[in-house]
Amino acid sequence: MKYLCVKVFMVLFLTSLAIKLNFCFPSIPLSLRTVVLDGHLSFTDNEFAAKDFGDQYRYSPLAVLHPKSVSDISTIIKHVWQMGPYTELKIAARGRGHSLHGQSQANRGIVISMESLWRQKMQFHIGKTCYVDVSGGALWINILHESLKYGLTPKSWTDYLHLSVGGTLSNAGISGQAFRHGPQINNVHQLEVVTGKGEVVNCSESQNTDLFYGVLGGLGQFGVITRARISLQPAPHKVKWIRVLYSDFSTFSKDQEYLISVEKTFDYIEGLVIKNKTNLMNDWRSNFTPQDSVRASQFISEGKLLFCLELAKNFNPEETESTNKEIQRLLSQLSYISSTLFTTEVSYVEFLDRVHTSEIKLQSKGLWEVPHPWLNLFIPKSKINKFAQEAFGNLLKDTNNGPILVYPVNKSKWNNRTSLVLPDEDIIYLVAFLSHAVPLSNGSDSLEHILKRNKQILEFCESAQLGVKQYLPHYHKQEEWMHHFGPKWEVFAKRKSAYDPLALLAPGQRIFQNNLSYL
Ligand SMILES: Cc1cc2nc3c(=O)[nH]c(=O)nc-3n(C[C@H](O)[C@H](O)[C@H](O)COP(=O)(O)OP(=O)(O)OC[C@H]3O[C@@H](n4cnc5c(N)ncnc54)[C@H](O)[C@@H]3O)c2cc1C
Ligand SMILES: *[C@@H]1O[C@H](CO)[C@@H](O)[C@H](O)[C@H]1NC(C)=O
Ligand SMILES: *[C@@H]1O[C@H](CO)[C@@H](O)[C@H](O)[C@H]1NC(C)=O
Ligand SMILES: *[C@@H]1O[C@H](CO)[C@@H](O)[C@H](O)[C@H]1NC(C)=O
Ligand SMILES: *[C@@H]1O[C@H](CO)[C@@H](O)[C@H](O)[C@H]1NC(C)=O
Ligand SMILES: *[C@@H]1O[C@H](CO)[C@@H](O)[C@H](O)[C@H]1NC(C)=O
Ligand SMILES: *[C@@H]1O[C@H](CO)[C@@H](O)[C@H](O)[C@H]1NC(C)=O
Repeated sequence: MKYLCVKVFMVLFLTSLAIKLNFCFPSIPLSLRTVVLDGHLSFTDNEFAAKDFGDQYRYSPLAVLHPKSVSDISTIIKHVWQMGPYTELKIAARGRGHSLHGQSQANRGIVISMESLWRQKMQFHIGKTCYVDVSGGALWINILHESLKYGLTPKSWTDYLHLSVGGTLSNAGISGQAFRHGPQINNVHQLEVVTGKGEVVNCSESQNTDLFYGVLGGLGQFGVITRARISLQPAPHKVKWIRVLYSDFSTFSKDQEYLISVEKTFDYIEGLVIKNKTNLMNDWRSNFTPQDSVRASQFISEGKLLFCLELAKNFNPEETESTNKEIQRLLSQLSYISSTLFTTEVSYVEFLDRVHTSEIKLQSKGLWEVPHPWLNLFIPKSKINKFAQEAFGNLLKDTNNGPILVYPVNKSKWNNRTSLVLPDEDIIYLVAFLSHAVPLSNGSDSLEHILKRNKQILEFCESAQLGVKQYLPHYHKQEEWMHHFGPKWEVFAKRKSAYDPLALLAPGQRIFQNNLSYL
C-alpha cells in the first residue's frame, strides 16, 4: 500500500514537473514528434524559416512542416487545434518568405514550408473558359512556364514572379495589368483551404462564398491555401516595351489616367519616379533604344525630378505592323518630353520575368539579401498631386536606394468582396517605395534613415488626411488594424472567429493575439 502511494505520488510529481517545465520553457510537445505524416516535421536547421525579404524580423520556429500532401497540413493544424485554447503554438504558412515584416514567421511555433507542395501536378482545363489548378506553394514563374506549353497564360501578375500563389493571394498581387484585369485575387475561380480547425474546404463564388472572399487578400488569417484555380487566356509571343519621361507630375499622371480609361490601350501601364540620375542613357542603353538617339543623347536630367511612364503592348509576330500603328496612335495622345521615347522588344517571358534579371545583378553585388524597408501605399486620385509634391518633392532627398513605382488603377473593376482594404475612390494610385538598406551604412542609405523617412511619409499622409491605405500592411496593435480595416473590420473579425477561432494562423501579421475569451 505504502509502495503504491509512493509510486502514485512519483507519477503525479513527475507529470506536474513535466507540465511545469513545458510551461516555463515552451519546448517541442512530445505529441508532435509522434504525428504520422506523408511528409515530415523538422526540428533542426530551421533558420531559413526565421528570415524574410524584409530582413528586419527574426523569429525561430520550434518546427517546420515539409508537407507532402494536403492532409499533412490538415493533420498538423488539427493536432494543434485539439491542444485547445491554452496552446501557445501558432502556425504560419510560408510561401517564399518574401514578406517584409515577419508575416510568414511563427515565433516558437510551426512553419509550414509550402514549397514542399510545389511539385504537386498542375492540372490544365482547356475549354470555353481556361484555367489551371495549382498548389498554394507554386511559384508564378513556374505557372507561366507550364501554361505557355498550352499557349496560355495567367492574366494578372506581380512585377516579380518568384513569389508563391498562396502568398500573393493572401495580399492582392498587383502589377501593370491590374487596371484591366484587377489584381491576382480577382482572377481565381476556386480555392482549396485548410482552416484553423484543420478542415479541408473548397470555396468559390458559389460555394462557401464567405470563406472564399475572406481568404482572398485575407493575410493568411482564415486558412492555408493549398490549391488555387487560376484563370488563363491565350498567351502572346512578344512585347513592345516603352519608356517615356515627364518633368511635371500632373502631366505624367494625367496621361496615365487617360491610358487606363480608354478601351483600346496598352496591356501594361506603370510608372516610376526618377531623381538625381545624371545620365539616363547610361542606365538603359543596354536594353532600350531611343527613338531619336541624337536628341535623346542631348537630353540631360541634371539631377532633376523626372517621371517615367512605362508601357507594354503584347503582340504576335504577324501583328507587328498593326501593333506599331496602334502604339503610334496611343503615344500621339500623350504629352511626354518628345526626345525621351525609348523602346525595346522582348519575349513575353523576358518581359514578365524582368525583375529576376535585376535580382541576379543585385545578388552578384551582395545587394539582394539586405534589409528592405519597403513602403507600399494606395492613394486616392484626388490626393495624388498633394502627395507627390510633398513626398517626391520634399521628403525624398534621393532615390538611389531603390525604385519608386507610381501608377493608377480603376478600382471599380476590382471585386470589392475580398478582404483587401482600399481607399474610398474609383481611381487609386499604387505608390511603392522599394528601398534597400546598405548594411553598416550610417548615411542616407542606412536602414535607420530609410525607416525614418517612411515614418515621415506616413505621418504626412495622416496629418494631411489623404485617406491612404497601406498595401502589404504592417501594424503592431489591434487598434491600428481596426483603423486600417475601417468598416471592413467587423466582417474580418467575425470570419476569424468562424474559421480560426483559436487564432492559430499567420501570427506574424499581429492582428489577433490568443483568444483570451477562453481564459
Ligand atoms: C522582389 C519582390 C517584388 C514584389 N513585387 C510585387 C508586386 O509587383 N505586386 C505585389 O502585389 N506584390 C509584390 N511583392 C510582394 C509579395 O506579394 C509579398 O511578398 C507576398 O508576401 C508574397 O510572397 P511569398 O509568396 O513569399 O509569401 P510569404 O512571405 O511566404 O507569405 C506572405 C503571407 O501569406 C501567408 N501565406 C503564405 N502562403 C500561404 C498559403 N498558401 N495560404 C495562406 N497563407 C499563406 C504567410 O503566412 C504570410 O502571412 C513583391 C515582393 C518581392 C520580394
Ligand atoms: C476540391 O476540389 C478539387 C477539384 O475540383 C477536388 O479534387 C477535391 O477533392 C475537392 N476537395 C474537397 C475537400 O472537396
Ligand atoms: C472606372 O471604371 C468604371 C467601370 O468600368 C467606369 O464606369 C468609370 O467611368 C471608370 N472611371 C474612370 C475615371 O475611368
Ligand atoms: C546624386 O547622386 C550622386 C551619386 O549618384 C551623389 O554623389 C550625390 O550626392 C546625389 N545628389 C543629391 C542632391 O542627392
Ligand atoms: C461593391 O460593388 C458592387 C458592384 O460593383 C456595388 O454595387 C456595391 O455598392 C459595392 N460595395 C461597396 C461597399 O463598395
Ligand atoms: C558616419 O560615421 C562616420 C564614421 O564613424 C562619421 O564620421 C560620420 O559623421 C557619420 N555620418 C553620419 C551622417 O552620421
Ligand atoms: C474566441 O472564442 C470564443 C468561444 O469559442 C468565440 O465565441 C469568439 O468568437 C472567439 N474570438 C475570436 C476573436 O476568435
